[in-house]
Amino acid sequence: MKKILVIGAGGQIGTELVLELRKRHGVNQVIAADVKEECTDALKDGPYVKMDVLDKAYVQEYIRTEKPDDVYLLAALLSATAEKHPEFAWKLNMEGLFTILDLAKEGVIKKIFWPSSIAVFGPTTPRVETPQYTIMEPTTVYGISKLAGERWCEYYFNKFGVDVRSIRYPGLISYTSLPGGGTTDYAVDIFYHAKKTGEYTSFLNKDSALPMMYMEDAIRATIELMDAPKESVKIRSSYNLAGISFTPEQLALAIQENLPTFKMMYQPDFRQAIADSWPDSIDDTAAKQDWGWKEKYDLKAMVETMLKNVDPSKLN
Ligand code: SER
Repeated sequence: MKKILVIGAGGQIGTELVLELRKRHGVNQVIAADVKEECTDALKDGPYVKMDVLDKAYVQEYIRTEKPDDVYLLAALLSATAEKHPEFAWKLNMEGLFTILDLAKEGVIKKIFWPSSIAVFGPTTPRVETPQYTIMEPTTVYGISKLAGERWCEYYFNKFGVDVRSIRYPGLISYTSLPGGGTTDYAVDIFYHAKKTGEYTSFLNKDSALPMMYMEDAIRATIELMDAPKESVKIRSSYNLAGISFTPEQLALAIQENLPTFKMMYQPDFRQAIADSWPDSIDDTAAKQDWGWKEKYDLKAMVETMLKNVDPSKLN
């Protein structure tokens, strides 16, 4: 039976990914690892290990002993937090990746998933339906680290045959675990505030369109990419992935269709400049062609699901 290790399991993607992988492979086959002392409540039914991805000796020893087949390396600082701690962000986002790539090169790990982001694009990139191959001049620390990571993933595949797979995630929207430190977080926060107070002040302008995706789609994409036959995975840097593209104003209108009294205000902060440097929408033809990707959630379905499920008491 396959053994899987998810590093950064306590985060927004990690929590839901572990839950889904455990459904598919069995609870005990999927080890959750995170820097936090305590395992996040949602994952308490299965194995947990406290792991700091920067503690290279520990990560190496753990993986050489446990020998997981697949490793999902999700530990990272996101765009907004990375701008506040650039040196630490670069260290965290790069060093952990090298540790895992080198273990796969040794043959200890069979397959790696490593997330990239729409942040690899920059202000000189075509904004609408951004192609898979295009100008990439990111202006954020996060984007620079993700673009460098993509190049290293492809390098390890070409030089050493490391089976590493990656997706350029858009902003991810979910209710199980809160996001932390991203520029797209407004699209999650808004639902908690809408339910709790009936109003929300967006830190992005009303017309800032960004590529987004409902988490269930993102998890399915991740697992479909990891399950795809090796020869179908033709891109070893990272795949563009498109879901729903919308502006804060369009999101507010979609919420008002369910909560007519919902009120939206706008007070852009430093994250506006980050959003301005990213695409409006993404062309994911390559993912569709190579491993059959197809998104399910549109704006309406996403909004209805979020409003039904977010627990505003988590906001405290
Ligand atoms: N959601 C991420 C962020 O805003 C993008 O990868 O940083």
